Amino acid sequence: MATELVARVIAKELRDNPRLVIGLATGRTMESVYARLVQMHREEGLDFSACHTFNLDEYVGLPGSHRNSYRHYMNHNLFLNVNVNLENTHLPNGAAADIEAECDHYEKLLAQCGGIDLQLLGIGLAGHLGFNEPVSSLRSRTRVKVLSPVTRAQNAKLFQPPEEMPRRAITMGVGTILDARRCLLLATGEDKAQIVARAIEGPVTSMLSATALQFHPRCVIVLDEAAASQLQETDYYRWIFENEPQWQTYRDEATVPNGHVTKVNRWNKEEAQISPVRNGI
Ligand code: GLP
Repeated sequence: MATELVARVIAKELRDNPRLVIGLATGRTMESVYARLVQMHREEGLDFSACHTFNLDEYVGLPGSHRNSYRHYMNHNLFLNVNVNLENTHLPNGAAADIEAECDHYEKLLAQCGGIDLQLLGIGLAGHLGFNEPVSSLRSRTRVKVLSPVTRAQNAKLFQPPEEMPRRAITMGVGTILDARRCLLLATGEDKAQIVARAIEGPVTSMLSATALQFHPRCVIVLDEAAASQLQETDYYRWIFENEPQWQTYRDEATVPNGHVTKVNRWNKEEAQISPVRNGI
């Protein structure tokens, strides 16, 4: 499964560097990744005690205690179920009195921690990373964004009543995300197929902030078959996962029989093209 593969990549990075600074994402897609990481913590001793985390975003107006806040989501899906030091887990404070100061503070905190080593990403139906809605500047930093109708329709289902969903959120900017040393995007399900194809193979545009990942030198995109179903170069991407040495460890995992990897850029080398093939990729 694609989810299993993503959890394994995170676990490997964390084992290689226990002080890893991890960028985290929320949403339904990530729930199973976090459940798997919790299982690895319990069964394999995966150690979170020295890592730091920074989440992408938070709704404006929701305190961390609100059941729909992303702080609540993270505490319950991951933080309270592993041995992470809660003081090392960071999300923007959506209930801050001075929201602009909070955004600046978040960027400063990130810089103080040395920046993000590995940024986990989902993709919204609006093609956003975090809450970088259409026409977000591709160089933007952490700031407040007004949520688009597509995003509101996607996420309002989680609020009761749906009208309670905030209209604004604090989000890391596209530029903030691109500063991460590595990016790892996961998308699953047929409803993401079209936006995934546009993000990976379409032209770069601020209308779809995920296209900015095409600029990132070390970005991996992991998809299940359904989410990959509208890509043009599927055979090429599949061949890479099935043959390239860098994926050997993960191919050997009996637990990832259907992992489908779209390799946007080399994991270990600076190369910013999806294609054409260079250096054997
Ligand atoms: C929210 C988050 C995004 C996430 C998206 C996808 O909008 N701000 O970071 O990528 O949800 O959510 P889901 O996985 O539920 O489709």
